[in-house]
Amino acid sequence: MAGIWNRLERQPPDALLAIIGMFAADPRPAKIDLGVGVYKDEAGRTPVFAAVKAAEEQLLATQHTKAYVGPEGDIGYFRALVPMVFGADAPIERIVGLQTTGGTGALRMGSELIARAKPNASVHVGEPTWANHPPIIAAARLTLTRHRHCDLATQMLSIDAMLAAMAAAREGDVVLLHGCCHNPTGIDLTRDQWEAVARLCAERGLLPFIDLAYQGLGDGLDADAGGVRIMARHCPELLVAYSCDKNFGLYRERVGALFLLARSADEASLAQSNMLSLARANWSMPPDHGAAVTRIVLESGELTALWRAELDEIRQRIGAMREGLAALDPTLAFLTAQKGMFSTLDLTPDQIRRLREDHAVYTAGARINIAGLVPSNLAAFSAALAAVG
Ligand code: LMR
Repeated sequence: MAGIWNRLERQPPDALLAIIGMFAADPRPAKIDLGVGVYKDEAGRTPVFAAVKAAEEQLLATQHTKAYVGPEGDIGYFRALVPMVFGADAPIERIVGLQTTGGTGALRMGSELIARAKPNASVHVGEPTWANHPPIIAAARLTLTRHRHCDLATQMLSIDAMLAAMAAAREGDVVLLHGCCHNPTGIDLTRDQWEAVARLCAERGLLPFIDLAYQGLGDGLDADAGGVRIMARHCPELLVAYSCDKNFGLYRERVGALFLLARSADEASLAQSNMLSLARANWSMPPDHGAAVTRIVLESGELTALWRAELDEIRQRIGAMREGLAALDPTLAFLTAQKGMFSTLDLTPDQIRRLREDHAVYTAGARINIAGLVPSNLAAFSAALAAVG
């Protein structure tokens, strides 16, 4: 007799995560990993930030208990992030939220909160988007409605398609936006475009749900939060799914936060009670280590300065790789205008396969992780692109 699990439908392995295994198994010494979004330094390593190591040492020396913190997580961590995300003049009386298990946990909890408040809401998503967005939205049983984010042939933002989708959306629908460093294209909104989107959201009663997972990797900490701050000025309500995985290099510690802006302090408190109950039913209480370390960094002027300098270095290295690749191949000049770790090239599935099989270049589909490039492999990557082109 077949067992209960036999009723399940087999699921394909996650395409993005599968690249990690494929790359590791490739014996070719000159292989190039432009797959999963992890920063690498010039030596191809993903080191722990010095500011994080120093904070970890402090934590080790001063932490005297591992007792539970609570469903909201480390509240000092959460509070330290508020001005970083919303600016010094943040309307803190209307902002609530909690620590989450990475940006993914924040996206999932935000989606579930929306589903509780408005079960029939559509989430409007510009494509291409992060591969994990659609499954998260589906898991919360919300409807996903797609529009075009950009045109890969011209590498331009499809702002008209975006505004048209929002103009056609129903009141109370959700607009999922990438706060900065769009994943997978690096094609961000300008300030004027943010203003236009914010005005339309406010006018049409749409709820912005902003995924901010790369603050500091685009143009700098304040500039990268510019979109969120513009939205918060125009829109009375919004959600921000935040991640410290990349800007603190804490990937495996899964350090995130969900921020909610409400119309009033009362509504904020009502929403907060729901977030706490969702957290309890999901993970009960989040892991502590990464958030405690982030709090220690942000509470110390000295460690904050060190962390900011390290983050600046990362941003500059990514920028230099963008410039370097564009200098080798002028048809890639658009890369220098794009932000963050990722860009998406106009590659066919066959070109992607040949890059991998013939040139040991591992990409996430047509997306390349610029932070996987180093001065010593730039020319090889450029030559591989030319060979498959
Ligand atoms: C990525 O897009 O490569 C990262 O955000 C890792 C992930 O979880 O997909």
